[in-house]
Amino acid sequence: MDKSRHLRKAYIVLFVVTLIFIFGISVKTPWKSIPPPRENLDTCPFQISDQTITPLNNTKHLLVSAFMDQRVKGFDIRIISIFRRDSIQTLYCLFCCAGQLSNTTPATVLVHSDHFSFPFGATDVMCQIPPKCEATHVTLLTHPNDVKSLNPNWVPIRNKKTEKKENNKFQFDFTVCISNLFGDYNNVLQFAQTLEMYRLLGVDRVVIYNTSCGPELNRLLKSYSDEGFVEMVPWPINKHLKPSRGWHVTEHGGDLHYYGQLTTLNECVYRSMNRSRYVLLNDIDEIIMPYQHDNLKSLMDMLQKQHPKTGVFLIENHIFPKKHFEPSRRFNLPQWKKVPGINILEHIYREDPQRNIYHPHKMIVQPRMVEQTSVHEVLKNFGERYKVPLDVCRIVHVRVALQGHLKMEQLNIDKRLWDFNEKLISNVDKVLKKVGILGSEQQM
Ligand SMILES: *[C@@H]1O[C@H](CO)[C@@H](O)[C@H](O)[C@H]1NC(C)=O
Ligand SMILES: *[C@@H]1O[C@H](CO)[C@@H](O)[C@H](O)[C@H]1NC(C)=O
Ligand SMILES: *[C@@H]1O[C@H](CO)[C@@H](O)[C@H](O)[C@H]1NC(C)=O
Repeated sequence: MDKSRHLRKAYIVLFVVTLIFIFGISVKTPWKSIPPPRENLDTCPFQISDQTITPLNNTKHLLVSAFMDQRVKGFDIRIISIFRRDSIQTLYCLFCCAGQLSNTTPATVLVHSDHFSFPFGATDVMCQIPPKCEATHVTLLTHPNDVKSLNPNWVPIRNKKTEKKENNKFQFDFTVCISNLFGDYNNVLQFAQTLEMYRLLGVDRVVIYNTSCGPELNRLLKSYSDEGFVEMVPWPINKHLKPSRGWHVTEHGGDLHYYGQLTTLNECVYRSMNRSRYVLLNDIDEIIMPYQHDNLKSLMDMLQKQHPKTGVFLIENHIFPKKHFEPSRRFNLPQWKKVPGINILEHIYREDPQRNIYHPHKMIVQPRMVEQTSVHEVLKNFGERYKVPLDVCRIVHVRVALQGHLKMEQLNIDKRLWDFNEKLISNVDKVLKKVGILGSEQQM
């Protein structure tokens, strides 16, 4: 029985193969199937990277994401990457065009000027798509004719023209880009308060690059990401390099500045390019706070009307030292006693920046007007930049004091956060209960 069934199957297969042979029907290899034999490389892509960080074969470099970007003449694609700066060789772009391999085109490698002398640095690889190619995926080669030996790992091209946005409206008004969570960072209370503060100010999406984090914070972030407010991007940079925990190569060592912060900020700008009106580039312990408006939308409506050609708005950073507590302790709430992390409502004393030394900003940008960004300034942009006045907007940054010698009396009292306290407290309680960080004592 079994044997005859096999025999019948074999005959059918033979018959179909003969038919194909006779009528010349070509069978297209479906995506994600086993790579075709090496001598038969006429369909693609063979192997699509499903990782955020893709090593480039035969080099020391890492590819992150490829984006359509036709703002600079002569280029179509920007591949956000991390390159080893002392080992840059000539590279060639290879495209997958509607299932067919393209000819190679020369790649232009642009290492960002901010690399802080680390061996690896944020890098853009610029490519031109050859004529008549409907490019879907891209990869780089070290030799123009070495397609066969390379078995390339393809990167999908994002922000393509086909992803239409309806009647010129963006999916989001405001996206916050948070770079690089690492170690066992578990500052849950400040994280929840900050995310809820962003929401009250009108932020629609928070993108977070995650190498690792503490257990409670992980639970909190899983919940926010299930809900869609937070977009977690895996960032396993430690699997590929020895990332530095700092920004100073001789002091902190390592291959790459601050877990690749410069690359993730740029990746986030491009990820947001066609879907978010504005992008806020700040850290998770920082809140870009309007002081004359209830929310970011009315702030930006005003600023943009006053400065129509501006795409980069610089916001001054202000430190609220965590060692000084507001004396009445009215926000030292009993339900938060066992939640790990800083309670930002308790820190109302603000340092005056030392303006005689360098004083950093963070930014609100229109991503479409940014080509390359660093942490405190953009490196290449279109349009103008504007320093937003302090009384209009500043950053509330609760952290270790920057000028630790200052006494409480020498600091400014700033209770701007308290204007949001009712909603903020109730929203933070809600999310902490949802993930089981609050209310567990009562049940035990
Ligand atoms: C990279 O090249 C090596 C040989 O040099 C090959 O074994 C491997 O499959 C290639 N990997 C990818 C992802 O292309
Ligand atoms: C996304 O924005 C970039 C930069 O403005 C542009 O080159 C690209 O064509 C845009 N894509 C879409 C689908 O609008
Ligand atoms: C963050 O990254 C770690 C390490 O890969 C992972 O175990 C964890 O689930 C991630 N957390 C979230 C919320 O994505």
